[in-house]
Amino acid sequence: WEGFNVKVAVIGTGYVGLVTGTCLAYSGHSVVCVDSSAEKIAILSSGGLPLWEQGLDELLNETIKLGRICFTTDMKSAVQSSDVLIVCVGTPWGPGGEADLDPLWSVVRQVALYCKQGPFLIIKSTVPVGTSDEIEQWLHTVQTKPSIEVIHNPEFLRQGAAVYDFFHPDRIVAGCRTIQARSVITELYKDIAAHVYFCDRRSSELIKYASNAFLAMKISFINMMADFSEHTGARIDVVAAGMGMDRRIGKSFLQAGIGYGGSCFPKDLQALLSMGHKWNCSLPLLESTVSINAQRPQHLVDKLLHALGTLKAKRIALLGLTFKPMTDDLREATSLAVSRLCLQHGADLHAYDPFVRDYPIAEVVLHRDMYEAIDSADAIVILTEWEQLHDLDWQLVSQKLRTRVVIDGRNMFDWDDMQHVADTCHITYISMGR
Ligand code: UGA
Repeated sequence: WEGFNVKVAVIGTGYVGLVTGTCLAYSGHSVVCVDSSAEKIAILSSGGLPLWEQGLDELLNETIKLGRICFTTDMKSAVQSSDVLIVCVGTPWGPGGEADLDPLWSVVRQVALYCKQGPFLIIKSTVPVGTSDEIEQWLHTVQTKPSIEVIHNPEFLRQGAAVYDFFHPDRIVAGCRTIQARSVITELYKDIAAHVYFCDRRSSELIKYASNAFLAMKISFINMMADFSEHTGARIDVVAAGMGMDRRIGKSFLQAGIGYGGSCFPKDLQALLSMGHKWNCSLPLLESTVSINAQRPQHLVDKLLHALGTLKAKRIALLGLTFKPMTDDLREATSLAVSRLCLQHGADLHAYDPFVRDYPIAEVVLHRDMYEAIDSADAIVILTEWEQLHDLDWQLVSQKLRTRVVIDGRNMFDWDDMQHVADTCHITYISMGR
C-alpha cells in the first residue's frame, strides 16, 4: 500500500461521511461517496451540501475541481471500483435505547453481494462491542475467498469543528486484525500527524462509547457541582477554572449549564446502558450521568418560574435553539425540552437562532431578528451560546423587555460584566451555579 493513493468508497453521506470523504479526497485519495438517498446525491452532485458544517463547502468545491471526489447512489459500481469501503451510516436509537443496526447490516449485505475481490471494510459508525467481529464472521460465511477484512476506526469529530478535527485529531484509533489492515490505515491517514493507536476491534468499539460517555460524565459532574454551588454560595465557573488547572482533570467539558444534547451523547449513552443490560453488567455512573442531564431543563424552568412567579401568558424570548453553536442541528437539543416545559406552563414562546428556520414545535414563533424576539418579553432565556449573542446591546434589551429578567442557561456571559449590566440596565441576571 505504501506510496499509493487509495480508491475509497464512503458509504453514507451524513456529516461524518461527508467530512471523511471530502478530507480523504483533499489528502489525495480518490473518493466516491455513496448514499441511498437520491435527493442527497442530487444536491451533492450539483455542488451543494445537504447540511452545514464549517469549512466543508470550500473543501468540497476544491476536491470536486481536482476531480478527486464524486457522488452516486450506485452501490454496486462504488463497491466494485474501490479498494477500501468506509461505512459511515448512522446507528440511531432503537426501540429499547440500543443502537439500531439495520442501516449498517443493509450496507454489509450489499457489500457481500457486489464485492468481487476482497477489499477492506472500515466501520466508522459507532457500533456496539462485538459488531465488527460479527460482521466479519458473517461475511466469511457468505463470501468466496479472498474475504473481506473488517476494521473498526471510530471518529471523534465534533460537529461545527469536524473538518479541523479530521486533520488535527488527538489520536486515530484503529481496531485491526492483520498487518495488511494496519498498513491500509497508515496509508489512508498518511498526511495526518497523529498517533495511530492500533488495537483489537472490540476495544476500538468501546473506546468510542467510553470517550463520549466520559465527556458526558464530565458535563453532568460539573452540572451537579453547579447545583451544589447554588446551595453553598460558591461560583461554578470559578470552581471549574480551579479544577481545570490540574492537568489530570483538564479544563475542557467543565462548562456548566443546561446539559448536553446532540445526535451523539444522548444516543451513545443510552446504547451503552443497553449494552450493559445485554451483558448483565451495571454501569451506575452512566445512569447518574443520564439522569442528571435529564433534570437540567426542569432546573432552568424552575429558575424562570421563581423569577416570574408564573409563566402563564408570559412572553419568553428563547435565544439559541440548536444543541450547541456553529451547527444547524436540533437533534436532542435542550431547547426542545425547555420549550415543551414552558408551553405546559402556558408561556408564549418567541425565539431567535442564527441558523434555525424551521423548528419542530409549531407553538414557538421564530424571528429572524434577535431584538424582534426580545420585544415585549418578560424574560430572555439563553439556550445556545452563539457568538452573535455577545453583541447584545443591553441598554436596548432593557428598553425592549417588559420584565427585565435574563436567564443565561449556558453561563456564556462573564459574571462580573453582568453585575455591571444588571446595575446599569436594571436587569435581573440569573445563571447556572453562580
Ligand atoms: C461529540 C464528541 O465531542 C465528539 O468527539 C464525537 O465524535 C461526537 O460527539 C460523535 O460521537 O460523533 P458533538 O456531539 O458534535 O461531539 O458535540 P460536543 O461539542 O461534544 O458537545 C455535546 C454537547 O455537550 C453540546 O450540547 C454542548 O453544549 C454540551 N457541552 C459541552 C456542555 O454542556 N458543557 C461542556 O463543557 C461541553
